[in-house]
Amino acid sequence: MIKVAPSILSADFCNLERDIHRVSTADYLHVDVMDGAFVPNLTIGIPVVQSIRKHTDMFLDVHLMIEKPVRYIKDFAKAGADLLSIHLEADHPSGIAKALDMMGQCGVKKAVALRPITDARAILPYIEQLDMVLVMTVEPGFGGQAFIDTQLDTIRQVRSIIDQYNPNCELEVDGGISPKTAPLVVEAGANVLVAGSAIYGSQDIPSAIAALRL
Ligand code: DX5
Ligand code: ZN
Repeated sequence: MIKVAPSILSADFCNLERDIHRVSTADYLHVDVMDGAFVPNLTIGIPVVQSIRKHTDMFLDVHLMIEKPVRYIKDFAKAGADLLSIHLEADHPSGIAKALDMMGQCGVKKAVALRPITDARAILPYIEQLDMVLVMTVEPGFGGQAFIDTQLDTIRQVRSIIDQYNPNCELEVDGGISPKTAPLVVEAGANVLVAGSAIYGSQDIPSAIAALRL
């Protein structure tokens, strides 16, 4: 089954509670955390995740676009994240391993994320312990960018690694997902689709969510 994860980066932050309830037919709520260092943009942090947790029971899929994420794993877990994605480019392998261990101790689900430049095989040292792999289909940092279609190849490679080593692991894609690109990523092996502008830019949000599941 295809799952849809609306990205609140495209929501109205002054009406965040309303905009979260508007996507309640979706599967996960995707929360983009940016630090102005790993990516050039700054978005939301721990107190906002904590507030979101108080207002929804949705599964919180928190995408950490931050340097050395090991520094903040406990805080985001305590704030109420259900799953944390850390970027493989954001620290040395020892820091990534430590962050994943910490997620296990905190009881949050574990994911690693890949920028478009990163080879699919970078997930190999971690794959057996992961709940999800996130393949970026745009350069992380901003919503509303164009889908990078050469990432279909990376999705296919990640799918084959998952099928070989950890078939229960989910494969999420993020960036430029729309009713036009969704069938391509699903065909390549993705099962969780993040979408910001395609959902929040629609007049009919429940239909926009349903359109991505097809
Ligand atoms: C980009 C973020 C995405 C973003 C996707 O760095 O990780 O989650 O919100 O936005 P769209 O769907 O508009 O490309
Ligand atoms: Zn994201």
